[in-house]
Order: sequence, then C-alpha cells, then structure tokens
Amino acid sequence: MSKQSTEKISKVALGTGGPQVGVQGLGCMGMSEFYGETDEAQARDALDAALEAGVTLFDTADVYGRGANEEFLAPFVAAHRDEITLATKFAIVRSDDPHYRGIRNDRAYIREAVEASLRRLGVDVIDLYYMHRRDPEVPLAESVGAMAELVAEGKVKHLGLSEVTGAELREAHAVHPIAALQSEWSVFSRDVENTAVPAAAELGVAFVPYSPLGRGFLTGAFTNATKELSSNDFRQFMPRFTGENAERNAALLDPIHKVASAHGASLGQIALAWVHQQAEVHGLTVVPIPGTRKRSRVLENTAASRIRLSEEELALLEPIASQVVGPRYADMTFTSAGRE
Ligand SMILES: NC(=O)c1ccc[n+]([C@@H]2O[C@H](COP(=O)([O-])OP(=O)(O)OC[C@H]3O[C@@H](n4cnc5c(N)ncnc54)[C@H](OP(=O)(O)O)[C@@H]3O)[C@@H](O)[C@H]2O)c1
Repeated sequence: MSKQSTEKISKVALGTGGPQVGVQGLGCMGMSEFYGETDEAQARDALDAALEAGVTLFDTADVYGRGANEEFLAPFVAAHRDEITLATKFAIVRSDDPHYRGIRNDRAYIREAVEASLRRLGVDVIDLYYMHRRDPEVPLAESVGAMAELVAEGKVKHLGLSEVTGAELREAHAVHPIAALQSEWSVFSRDVENTAVPAAAELGVAFVPYSPLGRGFLTGAFTNATKELSSNDFRQFMPRFTGENAERNAALLDPIHKVASAHGASLGQIALAWVHQQAEVHGLTVVPIPGTRKRSRVLENTAASRIRLSEEELALLEPIASQVVGPRYADMTFTSAGRE
C-alpha cells in the first residue's frame, strides 16, 4: 500500500543564498549504471513524472556510467533548462577495472572535469557542482578555490561537497559558501549525524541525503542481493545486503512495517518521511534525492514528503541504525566516517 497525490511538493531554499528547489530531488544514477538493466523510455517517463510532481533538483555525476548518465540527461535538460536545478559532480576516476576508484581534487583536474560535464550535459552553466569525494592529500583551499574560480567564470552557479566531515565542511565554507552537502543519510545510515549534520545546520548548508531508501533495501524490494539481484548489480558488493548480514538487516525493517501500516503507506514512504523530518529534528534544510526509474515510484516517493511521523513513531525507528550489521561501503576510507 502507498499514498499518492497529484499535488506538487513544496519548495525550499537549497542552503543560504541557494536556489529554490522542490523539497525532494531525483537521483538519476541508477538510470545508467549500478542497479541492473534500465528501460530507457521508462526512465525518461520517470524524469517527466518527477518534474510534474514538483521535483526540480536532478542529480547526476560524471562517474555514473562513465559520462553516460550526463549524456542521457541532456535532452531532458535541454527541454526544461529554466525549470530545473541541475547538479553534477567530479572527483571519482575509474580505470578498466570496474571495481577501481581513484580520487582527483587538484585544480587542473577540476578545470578539465567541468568542461567535460558541460559538454556532455549540453549546457553552458551547471547549477550545483559537487566535489564527489575528498582526497585528504589535496588542501581544501586548492579544490574549493578552483571550484570558486568556476563560479566567478560563470561555469557553475553553486558549490556542493559530498562525504566530507563537519570540520572539512567548515574549512571549505570559509573558502567559498557551500550551498549543499550530499552524503548518505537514512534510517539505516546515520554516521553523518556525528559531525556533518551539526556543521551543516550551523553554517546554513542544505543537506542532500543520498541513498535515503538504503539503495532500495528499505522499501523491502529485495532482502538478499546475492540471491535476488543480477550479478553486475553494485549492491552485490555492499556488505549490508549479502549473506547473513542481509538476513539480520531485513529483520530490522519490522518497526518500519508497523509505522507504514498505521499510515496506510509503503515502507519506502516511511523511510523517506523519516529523512524529511530530520530537517526539524536537526534544524536544517533537507532535500533527499531518492533514485528511481519508474513513474509510479516517483509519485510514491514524492507523496512521502507530506507524511508526518509522531514522536512515538520516531522513537520506534530510533534504535534501527545502531543495530545494522555491515558498513555502508566495503571500503569506508572514501567516506566522511572513514576520516572522523
Ligand atoms: N554522493 C554520492 O556519493 C552518492 C552515492 C550514491 C548515490 N548518490 C545519488 O543519490 C541518488 C539516490 O541514491 P540511490 O539510488 O543509491 O539509492 P536509493 O534512492 O536509496 O534507492 C534506489 C533504489 O531503490 C529503488 N526504489 C526507488 N523508489 C522505490 C519505491 N518507491 N519502491 C521500491 N523500490 C524503489 C530503485 O529502483 P528502481 O530504479 O528500479 O525504481 C533503486 O534500486 C542516486 O541516484 C545518486 O544520484 C550519490
């Protein structure tokens, strides 16, 4: 069961001085890579459905599909340039080995990366440009300084960071205002509450939770990646979703089931409502970007922004994250938690 609505979602400012956006964005990553086969026509229909529902923040990155996700979005962006806030990212580099990930934060690389993203997206300015991962060997003054140059040159409007600690966010914000911090935040993944969330609240930086549905696990769509997902699905390599961990973590969905049935809502809607409500709990703007390639799921997910959980329901969901077994990535050194 899920609630749906034809009403448009509300709008919020994406950080102090940032653009007005729908309070829920759309993650486009899965449309090109990581979560199994995509039906292109269906994915394009999901983009249209999102815009109709009031979603304006569309999220991609140069690394998704090695540029293919930006190229996939280009016709949609061209058709709706003035209605949307277009966010993309740089920093993750790949090789022929599908599992290899490197990080580049140096000025020369950033200047190359932005030109490539502008070309693939078919635009002359990126609304929100994120540094996707941090290489601690490169001073933030260099990386954020180079990003600030792009703002001054009119190639980028607003700056964002992903997977940085609270201290790193403060340091970066002193170089140039940061509109948004994008990191994983869900009822399963709450390490960002240690330093990143308080820093974002203090600085007026909007929080953009990625994987707010726990990569689909929180919707109950799959319970064991090894048994249920295709062999090239990225979730096969995530410790939480395989083997005994997956079984133990699936049992943690019980309180979400309970709250969902009280609201006549789906599991995913309660997971999203929880993330939206963290805005009030922590005193900051929160714009989650659930990813889906299906119109019906877009409508289900956007409707979740109107569900309000009671104090008792929030209390029921509170103990879940601390019981989750397995880290959120096999290699946590790339994340903010890995540097805290
Ligand atoms: N900054 C970063 O490092 C980073 C990392 C990961 C992701 N991201 C961004 O965040 C976005 C969202 O994260 P995510 O895609 O990893 O995870 P997510 O939003 O937590 O979950 C996406 C998964 O849930 C499924 N799903 C979505 N809505 C559903 C519903 N109502 N019912 C059942 N299943 C549903 C999707 O399948 P279908 O597509 O088949 O509907 C997909 O498999 C990405 O698209 C990307 O833009 C950023």
